Formats: sequence, structure tokens, C-alpha cells
Amino acid sequence: MKEEQRKRIIDRHRDSLTRHGYHPHALYWSSREIQEIRFAVLAEIGIRAGDSVLDVGCGFGDFMGWFERQHGTIRYTGIDLSPDLLREARRRHAEGRFLQGELFDVAFAEHSFDWVILSGALNEPLHDQGAYMRRVVTRMFALCRHGVAFNLLDARTLRAHDLQSHQPQEVWRWCSTLCPDCHMRDDYLANDFTIYMYRGSSK
Ligand SMILES: C[S@@+](CC[C@H](N)C(=O)[O-])C[C@H]1O[C@@H](n2cnc3c(N)ncnc32)[C@H](O)[C@@H]1O
Repeated sequence: MKEEQRKRIIDRHRDSLTRHGYHPHALYWSSREIQEIRFAVLAEIGIRAGDSVLDVGCGFGDFMGWFERQHGTIRYTGIDLSPDLLREARRRHAEGRFLQGELFDVAFAEHSFDWVILSGALNEPLHDQGAYMRRVVTRMFALCRHGVAFNLLDARTLRAHDLQSHQPQEVWRWCSTLCPDCHMRDDYLANDFTIYMYRGSSK
């Protein structure tokens, strides 16, 4: 990602945190309910208490809090570009591990995590025909032991100049070239879809 794109994401979240404080609006989610519907769909890939999870674009680390309230503790690592959101994440989740940057800034070993997830972190328009999204998903898949779950905005129902959306079938078809056990879900919110990619030993 270009330096000016990173800076734009960091600056936007610094401003939104100043405006909204600890609230889903600071993450550009319209409500807690909408944020947590996405979490529930991601978790349904098969994440269980005790598993290790890498959350790409973790924001406040809210997935960790949500999962632990619903299902029990996980070994959670969050990575995010925004140092401001991460400050709050660390304050709220002393048991979590939080890293600043994008996925390519950290030399994780392959298959380091049971699950690698991402919610809402590929919604910035980068004007690259999806090239960055495909690099991120490829790397996420290399890092997982069991699978990857991520969501994107659905271009069939949402097209906005300031948001990146994608055609679900195109993304699913491309993911299938990385991983034969690949599924697309679009049954939970009007403008969103989720891809599950299982590495053979699906739970
Ligand atoms: C819509 S928010 C969602 C936060 C969190 N996943 C949640 O659902 O609560 C998107 C987050 O992704 C982060 N982000 C955007 N692009 C990123 C990238 N390329 N690498 C890491 N983090 C990124 C932003 O800083 C922001 O915290």
C-alpha cells in the first residue's frame, strides 16, 4: 500500500476517534449490531474457544471481546494501521496481542494461526482493480492452519465513490484458485458478503 494511502487511513481513524470516542462510529460502522452480525458470520467458519486467531484490521479488538462473551477465550492477535485505535484496544484487552501496521509489515511464519479473519479492513478505495485485496487474502491464507474468513462490501447493492465494493462471484472464483474448499455467504446483511476458505482440515 502506498504511503499516502496508509496515512489517509490512519488520519481518518484518528479524526473519527476524536469525534466519537470508543464507539462503532469511530470504525465507520453504522451500529454495534451491524458490527456484531459480521463477527457472528466470521466466527461461524468454526472458531472455537482456545483457538488462535489473527484479526487483520482489528480496530479496537472488538472481535476478541465479542467472541469471549459469546463462546469463551481465544488466543487473539490483532493488527491494524491505526496507532490510535490500537491504544484503546490494548487498554480494553490486556490478554490480546496487538501489532501496528499492515499485514506485510510483520514476518509471521506460515500457518501461525488457527484462523485468520478480517472485517471491514478492505473497504478503502485503492483504485487497483482489487490487487491489494488479493495480496492480503493470499497472505492470510498462507498464515492459517484451519481457515480464513473475511468480508467485503457487495458491489451488486453498494457502489460509492468513497468505499471499495466487489462482485461476490468474482471474488469467490478467484479465492477458489487458492483454495478448493471455499464458500461465499451473502445471507446476513444487504451490502456485505463473507468468504470462508478452509485449508483441508476444516472443523
Ligand atoms: C471498518 S474498521 C473495522 C475494525 C474491526 N475489524 C471491527 O470490525 O471492529 C476497519 C479497520 O481496518 C483498519 N485498516 C484498514 N486498512 C488496513 C490495512 N491495509 N491493514 C491493516 N489495517 C487496516 C482500519 O484502521 C480500521 O481499524
